Amino acid sequence: MSTENQNKNKEHYDRLYKDGQVSNILHWINNLNTFLDSVTTTEISWFAIYKNNFRDRLAGKKVLEMGCGDCTNAAIMAALGAEVYANDIADSSGRIIELLNENYEFKHPIKFISGDFIKNNLKGNQFDFVIGKAFLHHLEIPLEEKFLAETARLLISNGEARFFRTCRKFAIAG
Ligand SMILES: C[S@@+](CC[C@H](N)C(=O)[O-])C[C@H]1O[C@@H](n2cnc3c(N)ncnc32)[C@H](O)[C@@H]1O
Repeated sequence: MSTENQNKNKEHYDRLYKDGQVSNILHWINNLNTFLDSVTTTEISWFAIYKNNFRDRLAGKKVLEMGCGDCTNAAIMAALGAEVYANDIADSSGRIIELLNENYEFKHPIKFISGDFIKNNLKGNQFDFVIGKAFLHHLEIPLEEKFLAETARLLISNGEARFFRTCRKFAIAG
């Protein structure tokens, strides 16, 4: 992604998430299983990310979500007991996370990592999961390769990357 595209992306998502959806998210995390039973059977990115029993594998795990957007998934993972680091280039995601942490007693409050995922200063070899939900398809291939290399650096040796991306004609989960 060129710097110009990157800036457009940031402006677009900052505008989109400005008003937040915090009351909806709070409702969903207070009704976790009902919410997950619904979205994982009706919405493809949720179905893909939560495949193979992901819901039951999160408690106590350290998770990094790149491009967390409106922060719904970061909040769900944290409410399921994971220690969640949520990254987005849009600062408005950070404001949503502040409000979520103020209004819900997560076992581990969500940590916001602001800015470009590639430029994070996180130490390597520390995450059980790196998540990219409806995100990688925004990138051009050379940049996507950098995201994948960064993901490999951040994961512990038996860690797992869970990505869902859409393509023009079909969707890929893996
Ligand atoms: C389509 S949204 C997906 C949001 C969320 N994961 C979901 O499933 O709804 C893509 C997100 O990636 C963020 N983003 C774009 N480029 C980024 C980058 N280089 N580093 C971190 N986040 C980025 C955008 O701000 C946006 O919130």
